[in-house]
Amino acid sequence: MPALLNIVLLIYLLPAVDGTGYIQTKFREFVNINGQRYDGTCCGPAPWLWGSRKKTNCGEPCKHAFVICMGNVTQSSSMSACEYGSKKTESVEGNKITFDDHIGYDENPLKFPFETWPGVVKLKIKINDNSDSEEQLVDRVEYQYNTRDLRREIDAPVHDVTLQGERTRLDVELKVFCAMDFYGPACDLYCKETDDVTGHFRCDPVSGDKICLNGWAGADCLTNIDDCVGHGCALGATCVDGLGYYSCKCPPGRTGHTCQHEVNECSSSPCVNGGRCKDASNGFLCECPPGFAGILCEVELNECRSAPCLNQVID
Ligand SMILES: *[C@@H]1O[C@H](CO)[C@@H](O)[C@H](O)[C@H]1NC(C)=O
Repeated sequence: MPALLNIVLLIYLLPAVDGTGYIQTKFREFVNINGQRYDGTCCGPAPWLWGSRKKTNCGEPCKHAFVICMGNVTQSSSMSACEYGSKKTESVEGNKITFDDHIGYDENPLKFPFETWPGVVKLKIKINDNSDSEEQLVDRVEYQYNTRDLRREIDAPVHDVTLQGERTRLDVELKVFCAMDFYGPACDLYCKETDDVTGHFRCDPVSGDKICLNGWAGADCLTNIDDCVGHGCALGATCVDGLGYYSCKCPPGRTGHTCQHEVNECSSSPCVNGGRCKDASNGFLCECPPGFAGILCEVELNECRSAPCLNQVID
């Protein structure tokens, strides 16, 4: 196939939009032990000039290109009946190929998106040989896979399949899972976690149900729960609603989480000049020693000012 046509075909075959889920095919290993095509001819040149090209073991490696067609259960074996998309890889040389993260230039695994849950999928693979100028059939295999109880990508089970053809064997891993933000056994429940004016929730990883963040309620978790209902703030304190909690604003003279403690105003030793502090419900009193006065006993009394002394005693 000319390169340009190949590129055009690839763009046309690749689905542009992402779906609610994916059917994933990962190639593991491919074996064409005899290096033969479907009709028994060798992929490589004939081993002997005069010999027949039909050999039981040709020796030369084939150039295998894979056409993968993901059809639904009612679709025929035709390689053009591919409800969930199709893909043609570049050719890979070798009669025994172990795949890593690429099939030719294509990424391994291949992902086929679906918009609605497919139920049973029909995986059809055609293997061609590109050794000659004209593409030749090597093999074709088909496999029906019953997908159900779909899950997130990390939890989805991997299904190992050996596709045995006439000439070849292909080991693949199948995995079907929901796309990001889609949940439920059919990947048809949408949930995208958010924490802004559109809602305050995360998504249950199994059911896809909205789980309100702490302090929020309602269908989209847009109602701020009044956490002050039945609050435990002490008498005289004001309850302040938070997100999933409340706090207490204490009146003067009280402290603690629920304003349960009385402030000991004497703890800072406010009285001076030997005054004795006495705690009160919202403040303190200083008992001043003789010769001192004032709220904090800060005033020194001049006891001579009243002139108590007789006979000119000078103090
Ligand atoms: C299978 O695909 C064909 C062609 O797109 C469609 O008409 C048919 O309804 C599909 N069947 C199922 C079971 O999805």
